[in-house]
This record gives sequence, structure tokens and C-alpha cells, in this order.
Amino acid sequence: MDKQKLDLAKKYFSGFSKLSFDERLDRLTKLGAISIEDKKFLAGGCKMDLLLAEKFIENVIGYFQLPMGVATNFVIDKKAYTIPMAVEETSIIAAASKTAKWVRDNGKITTHIVGKEIIGQIQVAKVSDYAKFKKIILEEKNKFIDMANENVAHGLVRRGGGVTDITVRAVERGDGEFMAVVHVFLDACDAMGANIVNQVCEYLKEPIEELTRETVTMCILSNLVDSKVTHARVEVNNIEKKLAEKIVEASLFAQQDPYRAATNNKGVLNGIDPILIATGNDWRAVEAGIHAYAARSGQYRSITSWSFDGNKLIGKFEAPLVLGVVGGVTRLHPMAQMSLRMLGVQNAEELSRICASVGLIQNLGALKALTTEGIIEGHMKLHIKNLALGAGAKESESLILQKRLEQVLKETKRISPSQAAEILKEMRLKESL
Ligand code: MEV
Repeated sequence: MDKQKLDLAKKYFSGFSKLSFDERLDRLTKLGAISIEDKKFLAGGCKMDLLLAEKFIENVIGYFQLPMGVATNFVIDKKAYTIPMAVEETSIIAAASKTAKWVRDNGKITTHIVGKEIIGQIQVAKVSDYAKFKKIILEEKNKFIDMANENVAHGLVRRGGGVTDITVRAVERGDGEFMAVVHVFLDACDAMGANIVNQVCEYLKEPIEELTRETVTMCILSNLVDSKVTHARVEVNNIEKKLAEKIVEASLFAQQDPYRAATNNKGVLNGIDPILIATGNDWRAVEAGIHAYAARSGQYRSITSWSFDGNKLIGKFEAPLVLGVVGGVTRLHPMAQMSLRMLGVQNAEELSRICASVGLIQNLGALKALTTEGIIEGHMKLHIKNLALGAGAKESESLILQKRLEQVLKETKRISPSQAAEILKEMRLKESL
């Protein structure tokens, strides 16, 4: 562990949420998480060039800005991280930072990835002779691999990646017949790899058709990347037995009941999607892959699990998280570039391991809250300021109104915008008497 870096992170993240906007930027600069230029860019409201938007999409009419924050206290595989998160939902960042601190001080987060390759699919919908098709493809697969690597994926090969394998599957058509599906496995190194794997599959279409005399219907990558799965593991020591047992029960609920699994996984994605957005990654692809993986047994299940061995609470995350740190939006978007610098990631796999860890920590935070005080209290505490603002409180009234709302929350476990407006009206009436 780089103790000096960890000590610095502990020092600069202590009391971080109570700081003003300028103080936060100062601390991040001192920590080395952002540069002086980044600080200026953030302080200036992150003004973006419209011409850049034109490079990304069509029919541009402007930018949509999301709030951007940092989750603090994360130590993953013994390395301290500042986690950029672009997200609109109250309490996600607070819960992640608070839970990460708990784990940092009482346990650890470790990660690993199993597999390297992403998958491209080539469909032959009406294969006339599946057995013959499969035999030819498998006999000639080394030739196909070499051709694809020489003619399409040569850049990847130079970087240690490229096409590594080809397999064939029979998929039921639903009419008693089978279609043939070729899987092309490709190591995309630090790219997410969508473009290159699609190019490889489209390139292979012609030689496959020529050699097999079958007709290829379509070629596209698969987002169900079960050939490259990211794992994160959280250990919490010194946990109260009752709390650990409740978290294990909550985990069982999400494993066994798809209705609960969907919400559990949404909570995990609360930790993952904001990092994907901040780093310019394709969150739709990751979402699709994670949900498909969650349903791989035939029933939709939780992508996290928690167990208790009498001393330690142990949490596990397991799902595909195929990301990129080069190319596309990641390379061009100034916020994405800043986020990657802030994370200090060396490669796409490190980013993927960070996302898995934050997802698992977010899940732990949610389960801890749900099995103790419930979700409303913490969420609403953070929301009270917004309610006061929404009710139209002036700066001089806001603090008193917030205190009154906290009191109501404590007593009734409930507060609403109309209550905030009502209390403010009362306050003003009393003031005028
Ligand atoms: C809310 O955004 C996320 C939770 O519903 C997740 C969960 O239930 O585990 C709190």
C-alpha cells in the first residue's frame, strides 16, 4: 500500500462533505486529483464547445449538464482513489463515501478479472447443414483468425490483443430448426472494442459465406460478455452480528426473488453508471450486459451476494463490465478526460475493477440502510436543503426551516414539499405578528 498517498487521501477527505464548493476544489488540487486547469474549468461552470457536441451526435441543439461530484474514502486493492460521479440522484455519493470509509477503516476491497475477450456474433439464420457449417468453421478457424488479425485488428495485435478464438453455437429458432451463430473472441486491450469487433465480424462475413456456401444474416457484438467478468470482494471486520445477519438475509432476498433482484441491482448500478457517464463510457452497453448476466441461470438474480462467517461480512460482485479508456467520447470529452486523470487509471481493466467496487460498496450502503433505519431517513436528511429551497425559503429563513423539517422527519419519518411550504408560511406569519 502506498501509505503516503493513503494518508494524504484520509487528510484531504476528512470533513469533505461539509466544505464549500471552492474549498472542495482546493482540497482536490492539493491531493493531486485535479490540476490547476481542471480547477479553473470546474469553477467556471464547465463551459463546453458546441462544435465538440457536433462531433458526437446529430441534430445538436446544446448540452445537458448533470451534477458532478466525487465519492471519497475509496481504497481498492490497496490504492486510494478519488471517484468522479456524474449523477442527479440525492444521497448516492454520500452513501458511497460513508460506506467506503466504514470499509476502509474496518476491512478491505479487492478485485480481479476473469477472461480477456469480448464477443462478436455472426448469424446464419437459415443454415442448410449446421453440422457441416460447424465443421468447416472449426477446421478453418485459425485461417479466419489470422486473416482478421492481419487485415482488421493489426493495431490491436501490435498492442498484445486481437482475435484469439472462434466458436460455433446452434440456437433454437423456435420452429423446431436451429440457426448457426459464430462467436468471434477478441481482446480489445484498453478500448471498449465495439467498433473493432463489429469490423472483424463484417470482414469475416464474405470468407465464411464463400467457404461454407451458407448465407450470413447479420454481424454485431454481444453485450453479454461472459468471457470477461469483473469480480470485486468486500470484507468488513468488527461488524455487529445482528447487522451482518440482516444484510445476509437481504442478500438472500435479492438472490431468490427477481422483483427484489431488480431493485438490488439498480442500487448497484447507482454506483456504476455515474462513473461510466463521468468517464464517457457506454452505460447502455454495460447495463444490458449486467442484466443479461444477472439472468443467465434462467431467473433474474442479484449480481451481488453477502455472507457472514461469524466474524467477517463478505460481499461479492460478479458481472461483465467492458469499458474503454481510449477512443471515442472518452478521448474527446474534457470531463471524461478529467475524470480519468482524477482516477489515475492505467488501463480499462482498472476502471472496470473500480466500477465493480463502487457498485458493491453502494449495495452495502443500501442494504445497511434498508435493514436498519430504512432508506427514507438518510435520503430525506440530505434532501431537506432542496425542500427548503423548493419551498422558496430565503437565505435567512433556510436554516430555521431545515431544522424544523429535520424535527418533523424525526417525529413522523416523513416530510414533503407541501409540508415545507406549510412550515415556511407559518414561520412568516409568526414573524409578521
Ligand atoms: C435507490 O436508488 C436504490 C435502492 O432502492 C437500492 C436497493 O434497494 O438496494 C435503495
